Amino acid sequence: MGQLLVLDKQDRYLTVSAMKGIILAGGIGTRLFPLTISMSKQMMPVYDKPMIYYPLGVLLLAGIREILIISTPRDLPHFRMLLGDGSAYGISLSFLVQQEPRGLAEAFLIGRDFIRNDSVAMILGDNIFYGAGLAALCRKAVRNEVGATVFAYRVEDPSRYGVVEFDAMSGKPTQIEEKPKKTSRGWAVTGLYFYDNEVVEIASRITPSARGELEITDVNRAYLERGQLNVCRLGRGFAWLDTGTPESLHDASSFVRTIEARQGSKIMCPEEIAFDLGYLSADDVLSRANWLGDNDYSAYLRRCVEERLYA
Ligand code: TTP
Repeated sequence: MGQLLVLDKQDRYLTVSAMKGIILAGGIGTRLFPLTISMSKQMMPVYDKPMIYYPLGVLLLAGIREILIISTPRDLPHFRMLLGDGSAYGISLSFLVQQEPRGLAEAFLIGRDFIRNDSVAMILGDNIFYGAGLAALCRKAVRNEVGATVFAYRVEDPSRYGVVEFDAMSGKPTQIEEKPKKTSRGWAVTGLYFYDNEVVEIASRITPSARGELEITDVNRAYLERGQLNVCRLGRGFAWLDTGTPESLHDASSFVRTIEARQGSKIMCPEEIAFDLGYLSADDVLSRANWLGDNDYSAYLRRCVEERLYA
């Protein structure tokens, strides 16, 4: 999956992925009702930012600069208003509607013209990842030329997820199953996936499951059967947080607040990431801070610039 050499605003050469990115931010969010009766789950605050900033930050860290946001007809205009054309983060954003929640794999059909001949990463708009080395893991997945890379996380009750099993000797994945009955501890497939361009063809061939959805697990199984599914296990140093229920949403906010207060750094601040990657200049970040007005977030952006310029 290609890398491009580009010049940034300060004429520095940057290696940037030619991979495209999709944030899937549709769904109904019934487990959060009444919070989500009239507003997207992925717009809900996770402490100091809208939820979608967290998956956006992951794609930025992966070096992906062309991103498609997919959401419901009701919610897409709000994401457009929030994120604009992406220039505030030095990236390019486009937007497409998913009419009904017909499954995660439908994203590759909706995004077919956006993906074209490129490889593509998808992240779910309600997935929060945190941990040292996350960017390096994502960049490794981007560099993988053939097949798919997914990330697995050990959870107490994996029955709500796609679950992957491994060969005890080789450590290679042997089986992947959607929402298995068994409830003992296991490896859940997280909502971050990297695919070669074959994914479009694979997604167009799968058929809806019993619950009427195009399952991402069926896409992953197709790669597994080809011997092309890399499963990267995220160890205990990583956090993969759920945000689908009032309790888990509150816990995610508390987690972010605790780490940010302790370290004085924000988790997944897209402007900061874009500045560190050279996508935005100091002036860009300062004018963004001015545009945001007088608040803690803009003060943080100003501090980021000061710390890096005068450190
Ligand atoms: P879910 O958590 O399965 O669904 P949901 O967000 O609608 O929540 P609930 O179960 O409370 O009704 O979806 C996981 C993520 O994928 C979430 O970010 C919504 C998104 N999604 C889509 O965008 N389109 C879809 O077709 C589906 C099934 C999910």
